[in-house]
Amino acid sequence: MDGVRKTFDEWAQNGRAELMEVEHGKNVSKFLESISFDESFSFLDVGCGNGWVIRKIGKEKNCKKAIGIDKSKKMIIQAKKKTGSKKEEFIHTDIESWKYKGKFDYIFSMEALYYSDSIENALKKIYKLLNSGGQFFCGTDFYTDNKATARWADIMKIQMHLHSKREWKKFFQNAGFQVKTKHIKDLKSRKKWKREFGTLFIIGTKV
Ligand SMILES: C[S@@+](CC[C@H](N)C(=O)[O-])C[C@H]1O[C@@H](n2cnc3c(N)ncnc32)[C@H](O)[C@@H]1O
Repeated sequence: MDGVRKTFDEWAQNGRAELMEVEHGKNVSKFLESISFDESFSFLDVGCGNGWVIRKIGKEKNCKKAIGIDKSKKMIIQAKKKTGSKKEEFIHTDIESWKYKGKFDYIFSMEALYYSDSIENALKKIYKLLNSGGQFFCGTDFYTDNKATARWADIMKIQMHLHSKREWKKFFQNAGFQVKTKHIKDLKSRKKWKREFGTLFIIGTKV
């Protein structure tokens, strides 16, 4: 079993999945509140963990379908246990090898893409899975400019691709996206990096 899957299987069982929900929740909610989901839409969360973003989005009245995928089987088991809505679906797969025929209006991913074997391949797949005009929202706390988080790779001891904001933008452009970025900071956080750098969202539009 690969290291990423093994680590997140453990996190699904030791409470770290819920801790991520708390740790990421504030900035992700702030970001998602800036999106106007005012037309009927479908939504995919890549590396959904215990599924908290899908449950949040599933409550939007215009959400027709919300799918969460994760390469950790145990995360998907947790997510399935927590869902109560028919709009929501959770699938155990990695993004790279997922065979899915439909397309989405929005794709989201928080702190997941840099664990994939190849960010380029994952982005190519995500681009294909979007409807034209669709958007990919990719959140990361782990990026070169945010120096405090660079040491996470040593702590985690699993594959984590560290890139700068400039490099992330280039990956998105190479995959065909029009790209914008946004930093969501938490000015009240005790953590300096959350106040000064915050979560980097790379927003790709398929035109
Ligand atoms: C740091 S956790 C973040 C979970 C969730 N997005 C959150 O914010 O709570 C990263 C998750 O991405 C999943 N993951 C990593 N690489 C993946 C890939 N290539 N395809 C699908 N899921 C992946 C992991 O199994 C893990 O559950």
